[in-house]
Amino acid sequence: MAGEFFKVDSDRGKIAVFGDLRLASLPSLTSALHQAINVARYKGITLDFSSLTTMTNSVVAPLAANLRRLTRDEAIDFTLLEPRDGQLRTRLISLGLAHYIDYRRYPNPRMNSSDASVIQFLNHDERVIAVDKVINSLLRTAKLDRKNLAAVDWAVNEITDNVITHSNSKTGGFLICSKVHRTNIIEFTVADTGIGVARSLGIADEQEAVQKAIEEGVTRNKSTNQGNGLFGTYRLALGSSGIFALKSRHGSLHVTKGGEMHVRKEMIPFTGTLVVCQIDCENPELIERAFRFSGKAHTPAFDYIERKHEQEEEAIISAHEICKTFGSRQSGMEARRYIMNVLQATEKGTLKIDFSGIYVVSSSFADEVFGKLFVELGPMRFINSVKIINADSTVLGLIDRAITLRTQTGL
Ligand SMILES: Nc1ncnc2c1ncn2[C@@H]1O[C@H](COP(=O)(O)OP(=O)(O)OP(=O)(O)O)[C@@H](O)[C@H]1O
Ligand SMILES: [Mg+2]
Repeated sequence: MAGEFFKVDSDRGKIAVFGDLRLASLPSLTSALHQAINVARYKGITLDFSSLTTMTNSVVAPLAANLRRLTRDEAIDFTLLEPRDGQLRTRLISLGLAHYIDYRRYPNPRMNSSDASVIQFLNHDERVIAVDKVINSLLRTAKLDRKNLAAVDWAVNEITDNVITHSNSKTGGFLICSKVHRTNIIEFTVADTGIGVARSLGIADEQEAVQKAIEEGVTRNKSTNQGNGLFGTYRLALGSSGIFALKSRHGSLHVTKGGEMHVRKEMIPFTGTLVVCQIDCENPELIERAFRFSGKAHTPAFDYIERKHEQEEEAIISAHEICKTFGSRQSGMEARRYIMNVLQATEKGTLKIDFSGIYVVSSSFADEVFGKLFVELGPMRFINSVKIINADSTVLGLIDRAITLRTQTGL
């Protein structure tokens, strides 16, 4: 983008950043950290973000990973000077970056919020929780058709699995995923501080390694793996005109929205591996067109909807899983989007919504979810497809009243 500006100033143990923090600004920040920590031997570093003006989500995972590595391996103590810009300050905290700079002062963002935040995972179980959490958030914030959702779910699973399977990263992996504002593009970034793609594949040239890694069938172990993960993810980005990047040590591969691939040598290495991928969920034919292995269209098996909601005769959602609170309109809006996405995706016909353990909801919440859902679907479809189960009588009364009022006023 024109007009972007980024500068790093170092003064002993203080590193000040100015302007727009994005993936391209990462090397100069990494270099300043290296100078202060490995050359000048400072153990306490102040990261002065007061003059930061913008920050992309994609930079959050690699930065968090790198800072965590420095805290763990070099025992560095980081202090954050917050951005002067109030909105950016709030974002830095809600995205979780503040926590990975100074975990004593900033708590980890709450897991049940639908706001994007970076999640660290250290093993397979934590990875599964992290992936489910991001897919859950996407279903609350975007309108997603089942096939596209399955594609995103597949790609996020593959790239995070690579961290656990190949990276040997001592700090695990860092995942962040969000919808690009005013589009239906899902963007995710996964970063680790492990051995990197070249070492894993046993290729000396790091540029060649990142290029090879995204080819179909390229794997470090033919007997246990297929070499589909990076290839399929790259194809999904390419097929939906999204950006794709794979950076590992000095190797840097970047694919533009127009599909142009640039491979170059990064002068300042990224310690580990970083993948950024955008998938545009606007296109219903994406999977058929882009998602092909050995020339054949591939349909991901056991997708999120099936794993989470289709294990019984009828589809089921637990209200606790899709709501932050049962009081606000915002929370209700997110819950309705989630329910609509599942309702449209499932072939089960009926969807049960389980209200066990919930004893009160606000009228505005009940209206936002059930009043509007009733009007949107129409009475017959609502009655035939939505079943509220295990609801307390007060809750049922509130839902009933909300539907009555909403049918009088319309949407
Ligand atoms: N985070 C990572 N750290 C180190 N090496 C990686 C990482 N991600 C991928 N690689 C290397 O790139 C290769 C290709 O990855 P890809 O996901 O395409 O295939 P795979 O994991 O080997 O097989 P599959 O994904 O089909 O199970 C891996 O075999 C590994 O050598
Ligand atoms: Mg893989």
